[in-house]
Amino acid sequence: MARAAESISARGSFSVALAGGNTPRGVYELLAEEPYRGAVDWSKVHVYWGDERYIPPTDESSNERMARETLLSKVPVEESHVHPMYAPGGPEGAAESYETILRTHFQGSANGFDLILSGMGPDGHTASLFPSTIADAVNDPRWVLPTHSPIGIGDRITLNVPVLTGAGTLLFLAAGADKAETLAAVFSDALPILPAAIVSRRAAQAIWFVDDAAAASLPASAIS
Ligand code: 6PG
Repeated sequence: MARAAESISARGSFSVALAGGNTPRGVYELLAEEPYRGAVDWSKVHVYWGDERYIPPTDESSNERMARETLLSKVPVEESHVHPMYAPGGPEGAAESYETILRTHFQGSANGFDLILSGMGPDGHTASLFPSTIADAVNDPRWVLPTHSPIGIGDRITLNVPVLTGAGTLLFLAAGADKAETLAAVFSDALPILPAAIVSRRAAQAIWFVDDAAAASLPASAIS
């Protein structure tokens, strides 16, 4: 809400990329209720996704479907301002199309997002940048990539490192004991090798919202 107010006041619009998975559900459901719903000028909000499973939005595993059900169907955001990642014709074509949308909307700047929400898997992936694909991704100039998940739905589309790290604020959400060891690795002093660590450390501003279970192994110095 604060980032939306700030962006709309400064630039007349707020561009946000939503996270998928389960953790953000609670955030989206809260945002759809008062007093939070009324605190955002939804007419100025432009909604994108940080990543998507390459399945139609009718599929119950679709990140787009989850965001529509928990938030977008309950707030007065303009449908023309909602930009889903899924497009028929295969993940490569969908990624290319999404990149064209972003480059057009952001006039070629990789820093176009005011806020990006992203989760983290127990393996340290974030968005759909996985340990098996991050080395190639960081050297790939594309803003949107087709990737492959080793678990769950294989074909994915994801924002790439320059766009994730260029956001005004990159807000990570991590909850649950199964994230504790990974989160400790992300915040360790060791060289970052996990995607979430690489992206978080390179971000213009990374903020982590974590619950006690996920924070259980963090050094006290990491918690503000
Ligand atoms: C996805 C997400 C993925 C997710 C993490 C954490 O499409 O699944 O984008 O990156 O954020 O896997 O998922 P949970 O929030 O369900 O633990």
